[in-house]
Amino acid sequence: MASQSSPTVERADSAQLAARNRVEELREQVRHHNRRYFIDDDPEISDADYDALFRELRGIEERYPQLVTADSPTQQVGAEVEQTTFAVVEHPLPMLSLGNAFNADELREWRRRAADLLDRESFIYVTEPKIDGLAIALIYEDGRLVQAATRGDGRRGEDVTPNIRRIPAVPHELTGNPPRRFEVRGEVFMPKQGFEAMNAGIAEQNEALLAAGKRPQRLFANPRNAAAGAVRQKDPRITAQRPLDMAVYQLGWSENGDGRAVPDGHWETLAWLAELGLPATPQAARHDDLEQVIAACERWTRRRDALPFDMDGVVIKVDDIGLQEDLGVVGREPRWAIAWKFPPQEATTVLREIAVNVGRTGSLNPFARLEPVRVGGVTVQNATLHNLGDIHRKDVREGDTVIVRRAGEVIPQVVGPVLSARPEGATVWQMPAACPSCGKPTERREDEAMFYCVNRACEEIVRRSLEHFAGRGGMDIEGLGEKLIAELIEGKFVRDAADIYALPSLREQLGATTFLGVKAKTKAERELAEYWPGQRLSNLLTAIEASKSRGLPALLTGLGIRHVGAEVAGLLAERFGSLEEILQAEQETLAGVEGVGEIIAESVAAWARDDANVELAQRLRTAGVVVELEREAGGEEDAGEPLAGLRFVITGRLEAMSRPQAEAALKRLGAAISGTVSKTTTALIAGEAAGSKLRKAQELDRPIRDESWLLSALQEPSAAAAEFIKAEPEAAEPEAESQQAVLPQED
Ligand code: IVH
Repeated sequence: MASQSSPTVERADSAQLAARNRVEELREQVRHHNRRYFIDDDPEISDADYDALFRELRGIEERYPQLVTADSPTQQVGAEVEQTTFAVVEHPLPMLSLGNAFNADELREWRRRAADLLDRESFIYVTEPKIDGLAIALIYEDGRLVQAATRGDGRRGEDVTPNIRRIPAVPHELTGNPPRRFEVRGEVFMPKQGFEAMNAGIAEQNEALLAAGKRPQRLFANPRNAAAGAVRQKDPRITAQRPLDMAVYQLGWSENGDGRAVPDGHWETLAWLAELGLPATPQAARHDDLEQVIAACERWTRRRDALPFDMDGVVIKVDDIGLQEDLGVVGREPRWAIAWKFPPQEATTVLREIAVNVGRTGSLNPFARLEPVRVGGVTVQNATLHNLGDIHRKDVREGDTVIVRRAGEVIPQVVGPVLSARPEGATVWQMPAACPSCGKPTERREDEAMFYCVNRACEEIVRRSLEHFAGRGGMDIEGLGEKLIAELIEGKFVRDAADIYALPSLREQLGATTFLGVKAKTKAERELAEYWPGQRLSNLLTAIEASKSRGLPALLTGLGIRHVGAEVAGLLAERFGSLEEILQAEQETLAGVEGVGEIIAESVAAWARDDANVELAQRLRTAGVVVELEREAGGEEDAGEPLAGLRFVITGRLEAMSRPQAEAALKRLGAAISGTVSKTTTALIAGEAAGSKLRKAQELDRPIRDESWLLSALQEPSAAAAEFIKAEPEAAEPEAESQQAVLPQED
């Protein structure tokens, strides 16, 4: 036996040794990242990567409990407070952290453990948004704010009272009948809108600093860092200028010497805190079983991007304070609460190259080519970098390890570099002096800090202009997509929009091009080739013919004059009635049109001064394209009322059109418009800075859409209508505690 067991023992020893080494390595890393996050406010890895390190560490400690030490980061909260300019304060009741659940089963396990410990099956729960900011404890004495402190390491934090007093949401005096001395805890955060505005302000100042040859200020990477930075300002007047807010989510401790009682449930506590004038956490909900909690978490996950603040999850708490005490704390985490974490939207990866693409207007748009990385459930390979100024402000260089963020459906962004991982010799990136497509010199436009290719024959500009002309917003030529346009340019069939209308006369030649069959490579091309040159070609030529009568606004939009989108095109068409009149109009006359203004007028006038454009307009007319406003022109009008039965509410600021214009456009398609959000609202269309209506829609769980959705709905109303008819049952409240929403299909 001994001879058999000894190798096992050795193996166990060596496994334990490996575990010990790894644990030490992980602790080192976690401590380092704690410091970066909690003390420097400058994290260098994404939250998801941090969570992975932490989970691995805790996993090993669970397997080898003998390796757990009191100073392991798993046993502590955050980073220890270093000597700073703030006084250190002790927290009489430690400020805890929260365990995480990444899916429904982990939540069910959490409930199971609590149920087993207390030997009871049913609980009442409260869910609250886990707002991404920093935890602050407020102490009130005789109704007055006397101290505000950060969490620090959980036991000792920093006294930031003068700064917290500058946050408008934090009352200096309470109303009602508060306990003599008590502490509340909550999250100080920066709403997204304030964050964007603040960064925009810094960017603007940076333009001036750059122009004066001075060093620009770094932008804040996210609202959490911005909030943490603002709270730890040495000068409270600076804190006062930052758009901070607070949500109070917990009663810490209280001294009720004179018998003033505090509520014995968390849900009631929140209402009680609000009565005292404190900003109790918004949008909390009460549930009487865990499946309801899970449904609520899933709803939050779906709408996280529509909220006015950054959330990194949902906090679930057992309501009964007595049961909370019975459940107690393990390590640094209470057993009575847990955080449901959203899938990460940030990841770190290597920036291989900064490449440049050429836009329709000739603008040079830098973007990042990345080592592929999974972010928020999709693999990301490219991310936008906006423009040269942005790249320099963020100090992003080729070869850098970068943090990539993806929010909702928007294009992934490079947040910034991980400076400690910068390879030696990485150089500051510069815009290429030559257009990457045609090789002609590029130009910087003073006014816009943007670079342009000004060669109108540049193949990339031609390609993108034609895609725009034939696309949905323009002449909407079915079948004439990216691929075919590329082929037609390569085959020298087209160089500009007017050439499209000469294609019918080239029927024979078109039938014999590579794309049309001879050298089909992929399956899709072969299938296409079988069709071609018969039906497909006929369809295309029919679509080209039909597009001629799309009407003046579509034509104007399709021409891609800078700043002339569908809205402005409509205004110009209405006012002048024909392309000719528009091209001949004086700049002042153009600027005088309501909704047009100087910048657009200048752009239209400049377009009209260019002989090549005048010739293009002439050739389009000769080809039979309708260049006059035909109020009764065929095409899309008269498609019935595809949005009939749907009821929208519009709120916030829209970019492309005014709210009344948007309402009128939706009404024309048959939709009803209402001023208030209710259960019968099909969807809320929320522009910038949406406020109470957005909150109301969230409360009622009505679908929320943004302006880009509105624009596509106006283009394709039937598809938009279908979306709701399909989406409704799924969006309906599972624990329908209230009357059923009036669904459009129910008539
Ligand atoms: S309760 C014992 N509720 O999350 C429970 N925390 O990881 C301690 N947070 O330090 C916190 N929103 O900074 C709680 N509604 C909420 C919260 C919340 C955000 C933060 C807070 C805390 C951290 C725990």
